[in-house]
Amino acid sequence: MDAARKQQLIDMHRDAVALHGCNTDALHWASRGEQKLRFKVLAGIGIRSGDSLLDVGCGFADLRDWLRAHAIEVNYTGVDLSPEIVAEAARRHPDAAVLCGELFDFDSDFAPKSFDWVVCSGMFNWRLRDEGAYACRVIARMFELSRFGVAFNMLDARSRSMRMLTELVAFDPDTVLEYCGSITPDCTCLNDYLAGDFTIHMRRFA
Ligand SMILES: C[S@@+](CC[C@H](N)C(=O)[O-])C[C@H]1O[C@@H](n2cnc3c(N)ncnc32)[C@H](O)[C@@H]1O
Repeated sequence: MDAARKQQLIDMHRDAVALHGCNTDALHWASRGEQKLRFKVLAGIGIRSGDSLLDVGCGFADLRDWLRAHAIEVNYTGVDLSPEIVAEAARRHPDAAVLCGELFDFDSDFAPKSFDWVVCSGMFNWRLRDEGAYACRVIARMFELSRFGVAFNMLDARSRSMRMLTELVAFDPDTVLEYCGSITPDCTCLNDYLAGDFTIHMRRFA
């Protein structure tokens, strides 16, 4: 991701927080219900109480609240590009690590297999005009950082409603699955939970 696009994303989220306040509208989610449904599908990879979790593009760390509401207490670390969003996430979760930046800003902080699970919800939705190169780098790095596996979601390019996207970008699930399969053979694509969305689970062990 180039510096100009990175700054655009930071500015866009700052403006969205100023406009909407610290809620799902500022995260550009259609609804709280859809956000939670995505969390449910991500967590379905097998996240359990006591696990450590890195949430990339964590927003307000709502995933941690969702897990707690389902009696899953994790050792949570969140990373997000937006200073305003990170400040609110840190205010809501003073006992968690919430770090401002993109994943690669923390290359020297996180050793391989630092976290049981690495998840990412909604972060790949912003168009970067790089043919998916950044997403591929992030997916590979997330897997490297995980002990058990990675779960992430993307917008589905096969959905008719995704064809007119401008600021957002959608991906072909088969292409993404093929790429993930080059990293680990144990990959699953779930696409039956929300129209226009898919989730990939990547596991280290079968
Ligand atoms: C659609 S929101 C989802 C937030 C959260 N995962 C959730 O589901 O509530 C996407 C988040 O990713 C962050 N973001 C976008 N690009 C990023 C990047 N390259 N690195 C880190 N965070 C990023 C945004 O600031 C925003 O908070």
